[in-house]
Amino acid sequence: MGSCCSARIRAHHSPQRDGQSSRHVSFDGRETSSAPLTPRNVGEILDTGSLKSFGYNDLRICTRNFRPDSVLGEGGFGSVFKGWIDEHTFKAAKAGTGTVIAVKRLNQEGLQGHKEWLTEINYLGQLHHPNLVKLIGYCLEDEHRLLVYEFMPRGSLENHLFRRASYFQPLDWNLRMKVALGAAKGLAFLHSPEAKVIYRDFKASNILLDSNYNAKLSDFGLAKDGPLDGRSHVSTRIMGTYGYAAPEYMATGHLTAKSDVYSFGVVLLEILTGRRVLDTNRPQGEQNLIEWARPYLASKRRVLRIIDARIQGQYTPSGALRAAILAVKCIAIEPKYRPTMVEVVKALEQLQDTGVVQTEEEAQRHIHFGNAQNSTRKTSSYPRPSA
Ligand SMILES: Nc1ncnc2c1ncn2[C@@H]1O[C@H](COP(=O)(O)OP(=O)(O)OP(=O)(O)O)[C@@H](O)[C@H]1O
Ligand SMILES: [Mg+2]
Repeated sequence: MGSCCSARIRAHHSPQRDGQSSRHVSFDGRETSSAPLTPRNVGEILDTGSLKSFGYNDLRICTRNFRPDSVLGEGGFGSVFKGWIDEHTFKAAKAGTGTVIAVKRLNQEGLQGHKEWLTEINYLGQLHHPNLVKLIGYCLEDEHRLLVYEFMPRGSLENHLFRRASYFQPLDWNLRMKVALGAAKGLAFLHSPEAKVIYRDFKASNILLDSNYNAKLSDFGLAKDGPLDGRSHVSTRIMGTYGYAAPEYMATGHLTAKSDVYSFGVVLLEILTGRRVLDTNRPQGEQNLIEWARPYLASKRRVLRIIDARIQGQYTPSGALRAAILAVKCIAIEPKYRPTMVEVVKALEQLQDTGVVQTEEEAQRHIHFGNAQNSTRKTSSYPRPSA
């Protein structure tokens, strides 16, 4: 899963490390969704015209036998492999030719994996938007369950924010705001009357980036249809990922679009600070991002101190302040005080390209030394909380 602390929530269980055991059956009699989008049966779901049914053997060949060096990442569902197919026949192609795809292979036995696999096909087979990842097809053969997506060359936001490997340069301020806006548009679309879906698993690892850093939401295995008939919420088992799930949802299992808004606020805070929402590698008192950041977020004077030191000098104080205030609103304890995703999109649109324009030399200096002390531009260089 790539995250040291991103643990799936099991209903009424304590946090677990990642892996298959942290996923479980959640669909039971207590779930009360009915569905404008959901087709009635498995046959209809799989029969969605835009989706291609792949043979297992083709997916095996196109990922070079699921070779370890084809692995793009791993999550609770299974591993994700890079593969190549012919764009016309959809048959396996030689590595480096044809169309690149990402193949997610369920490596877990049991009902929950199958349900999430089917839920993903159900939603992504019907929902199409520039900020949702494109599902090309699936494979259902014997015990094999796989999903085939468009390949997202820049991987997940999680990798860009938290991986220290040299391949992942820290995203600059403007790109962070671009990614936040793209992801917000994806969520706004899901919440719109035409889709009316609650995503339920908004987190940095589920935001994938194309070559131009356009953000696309992936992983619809936990998505739910929003409440119908004037109801305020959907009752569910509590599922999602620790740290990202809204407190009222964790307490009651009542799911609303505002639960997603909370998760968005958490990710926005991760984007601004460069810190994971839960990180046991940090000292006591800093492991929970929300608790650590709250005192800073409460004060306009102090809020800029928590912005990621690696992007110091790239933003104007007013831009950073507005972004931080937006995050604070999204993580309001009371759901009614959180903005809607449409309002979040509007706020983020105003934050596009608010970064300080840097010369190439200045940009290099930030990458190598991570400070802007020598810059003569109007930059934000604030005392930071000690690590
Ligand atoms: N379409 C894709 N293109 C490129 N890389 C992808 C694609 N889908 C997934 N990945 C990579 O594979 C990783 C694992 O994805 P996956 O969705 O299985 O797990 P996760 O989101 O990290 O964790 P979880 O299972 O808790 O959601 C992602 O973080 C990403 O780096
Ligand atoms: Mg994922």
